[in-house]
Amino acid sequence: GLVKTKVGLLILGLSNSGKSTVVARLTKEPVEDVAPTVGFAVESVKIEGLAVTMFDMSGNQRYHELWQHYYKDTTAIMFVLDSADRARFAEADAVLQEVLHAETLKRVPMLFLCNKMDLALAASPDEVAQALHLPAASAARAFQLQPCSALEGKGIKEGTQWLLDHV
Ligand code: GTP
Repeated sequence: GLVKTKVGLLILGLSNSGKSTVVARLTKEPVEDVAPTVGFAVESVKIEGLAVTMFDMSGNQRYHELWQHYYKDTTAIMFVLDSADRARFAEADAVLQEVLHAETLKRVPMLFLCNKMDLALAASPDEVAQALHLPAASAARAFQLQPCSALEGKGIKEGTQWLLDHV
């Protein structure tokens, strides 16, 4: 099996970063849409002991306080970036910093997925690390950058294994 204990996995990223495609790589089951009652789309899926919640962190600042609601049961985080979409690196950086500074998530391990590495124009992991001010792992939080292509199924398994090993 994939997991030993119950894991609350939060998958975050901007719209179009590849979150659903990552989830599709983790499960064969269809992703069930939860009604976006709060104004942003939240989806959840269960994969053998893994309670996965994902949401889109794009857009309106006024929804940000609602994100906190989903933080409390989180024991592992995946942050998904479209590595080819340099025009949105600053926006991705802003929401990433918000997540990194959230008190509730302070000690939660994070796997940072540099997705869409199959694209010729994708930024290198080094470029991404600089542009998004990626932190090093610390005593408080395990942090790992993982280049991947959710489309081709590359890097997802290794990254997920690392994350589950650090919960
Ligand atoms: P929202 O539902 O808008 O929040 O998007 P999302 O983050 O769930 O992204 P989704 O998985 O729907 O992917 C967005 C688009 O990017 C789709 O057209 C995917 O096929 C494409 N995509 C996802 N992962 C990859 C990848 O690794 N490489 C490439 N080239 N395209 C990808």
